Amino acid sequence: MNRRELIDADGGNHAAKPIPRAAFDSTLALLREGYDFISVRCRRMNTDIFATRLMLRPAICVRGAEAAEMFYGGDHFTRIGAMPQTTLRLLQDKGSVQALDGAAHRHRKALFLSILLDGDQIERLRATFRRAWLDQLEDWQRRDEIVLFDAVNLVLTQATAAWAGIPADKDRAELCRELSGMVENAGGIGPSTMLALWRRRRTERTIGELVRRVRSGALDLPANSPVRLVSEYVDAEGMPLDLASAAVEIINIIRPVVAIGRFIMFAALALHQHRQWYDKFAAGDDDGLEAFAEEVRRLYPFFPFIGGRARHPFEWKGYRFGKGDWVLLDLHGTNHDRRLFVEPDRFIPERGLSWKTHGFDFIPHGGGDPATTHRCPGEAVTVALIMEAVRLLTRSMAYQVPDQDMTVSLARMPARPKSGFRIDNVRRNPAERLPVEPEPLRS
Ligand code: HEM
Repeated sequence: MNRRELIDADGGNHAAKPIPRAAFDSTLALLREGYDFISVRCRRMNTDIFATRLMLRPAICVRGAEAAEMFYGGDHFTRIGAMPQTTLRLLQDKGSVQALDGAAHRHRKALFLSILLDGDQIERLRATFRRAWLDQLEDWQRRDEIVLFDAVNLVLTQATAAWAGIPADKDRAELCRELSGMVENAGGIGPSTMLALWRRRRTERTIGELVRRVRSGALDLPANSPVRLVSEYVDAEGMPLDLASAAVEIINIIRPVVAIGRFIMFAALALHQHRQWYDKFAAGDDDGLEAFAEEVRRLYPFFPFIGGRARHPFEWKGYRFGKGDWVLLDLHGTNHDRRLFVEPDRFIPERGLSWKTHGFDFIPHGGGDPATTHRCPGEAVTVALIMEAVRLLTRSMAYQVPDQDMTVSLARMPARPKSGFRIDNVRRNPAERLPVEPEPLRS
């Protein structure tokens, strides 16, 4: 037993339990097993915690609701130094809300929540998304087939750019490649990751320039547009964000909206595999639609785990954590924990899950209170857009699903059905009783 295991947080002497150890270095196992990596070991060793090394760095892996409460509940962790550099730079980057802690984090986070939990903002984004989808539907009808994942990413780019206030001179197809490339390559280190990083720098420069024009008055955006709200944000000391950080935070709003395309692709897969839900929604019944969207977020793989570094020494269930310890919380494994969910690998919307409970058991976007922790602020937006996509897929159009390889490999992070979900024979549904259509996209 080493000295650290003998000394507790306030210097007293009591022995901590040794953390069970997996292999000396598990990097190859992680690459091989992907989303299952932590859970498989926890089950095998009958534990919710084990220690190993990843890329030779010591790591402590945890899973389950109690572990999530420890990870999110006690302000024990910072995200600084907790992600590989390429992942950090592609997803959040320096100067972002995720890189802050304590009071500065809460102040910046309030900006995100004021935009992303605001009913009018969510409704404006939903309506813009619907309009963009129906516009694209014209083109889909002319094509032999479409890869739904790619097609929806473009719709989401158009919607989030118009909603956020990105002027139309920024080419949407190019912006789509930039934003979706950030997510697709976040788990890699090869040439495509380097290309995505280069594209990200370009996007940051373009958006930084936008912020400069908004601040100088050269570009007049609506007062409620996210680009303007971030540009005009001042911190607790009354200071605006520097241009680079403002650009990073605007990307932090528009990039994850495009990332919802992955859940929409999985929702289409669920509609295909569980036909009774397709029929129910196609008949115009919205009952159970929210629970359907939430079950998509629970079942299908997105973020495998999230990393944090301990800010101070503390103890949990008799295990000692030292300052700087690198801890990975298993998000996917917790969402599939048999102790929390009956038949966790089955699609059962009747579970009636909701992000609104702020719990520690259903954690596709992290756990706890988003205002005070690093839990994602975008869950309301995500659920609203998955729900709208299901309405569009089942009521506004008809399509066929040709034979294809829909296998979802859990070794690939982020995961997707191999085919990206192809559909053909796409037709606008003329019988749909259209609600009042939103204004056309500003372009
Ligand atoms: C597409 C589905 C999404 C998934 C799977 C997802 C997942 C996550 C996860 C796992 C975290 C990290 C929590 C942590 O560090 O502990 C996070 C943070 C974050 N997400 Fe999301 N998210 C999604 C959608 C969104 C949306 C739509 C937005 C904004 C429009 C958004 C904005 C953010 C921001 C700004 C953070 C950093 C929060 C902080 O550090 O306090 N996300 N998200």
